[in-house]
Amino acid sequence: MTRITRITPASGASKAPTTGETYDMTESKSIPSLHRVSVTGPRVHLREVGEGDFDAAWAWASREEFFRFLPIEQPDRSDERIWLESVIAEAREVSRRQYQLGIEALNNGSLVGMVRLGIDSERDRSANIGYGINPDFWGLGYATEAARLIVRFGFETLGLHRIWATHHPENFASRRVLDKIGFQEEGRRRDDRFVGGAWYDSVVCSILESEWSPKETDRRAT
Ligand SMILES: CC(C)(COP(=O)(O)OP(=O)(O)OC[C@H]1O[C@@H](n2cnc3c(N)ncnc32)[C@H](O)[C@@H]1OP(=O)(O)O)[C@@H](O)C(=O)NCCC(=O)NCCS
Repeated sequence: MTRITRITPASGASKAPTTGETYDMTESKSIPSLHRVSVTGPRVHLREVGEGDFDAAWAWASREEFFRFLPIEQPDRSDERIWLESVIAEAREVSRRQYQLGIEALNNGSLVGMVRLGIDSERDRSANIGYGINPDFWGLGYATEAARLIVRFGFETLGLHRIWATHHPENFASRRVLDKIGFQEEGRRRDDRFVGGAWYDSVVCSILESEWSPKETDRRAT
């Protein structure tokens, strides 16, 4: 999961039609900027995080295995605090482009991980997602449900056209999550990331709004 990603909002400038071209205004609709986001699924609740979530965030950030496939260094407590503050600040931006939401387990209210959606082109209605779960809760379906909810939020609430994600070629759990919610592999960025002392490709996967069907992805998950 990308930790601190600052994306400058695109200008939103519309493409002017050239002679002979028809121009569909529905393609240039702007993406809303939302605050105090709350999305609930069968087992998890996605919610904004606050400073009081530091201990829960540190519970996964302090685990080496969490970072095995991530192109970032394992943070110390101070880095983690700075990251959490940046997440909180981004959530308050008037023109919000980063949605980094906590994943709360509905059965006991604990924060088990984070899921992120970052808009990278307003004009093209494109965003990328990432997620991470506390290793104590791996294999319980939390990442799949959280990723499905954030993708639904992206298509149905923000009106996105394309959502993409990348994963380390050996991050099979992450790939399985993407497969289950309907992402397709589109290719590899060669030697894109330096992880654990070696270069790795990034596998790029995506899903388009025309492919998104909550029912279909629910079926795929079973
Ligand atoms: C990737 C990650 C988010 C998955 O979280 P999770 O809550 O365990 O995921 P889920 O339980 O929803 O689903 C995991 C799926 O991967 C499968 N899986 C797990 N390890 C696997 C492996 N080594 N090979 C193949 N499949 C694997 C599980 O069986 C499950 O599939 P299933 O439901 O068909 O059985 C978690 O491992 C994590 O936080 N990793 C560290 C951060 C990270 O790498 N994030 C992804 C960045 S791209």
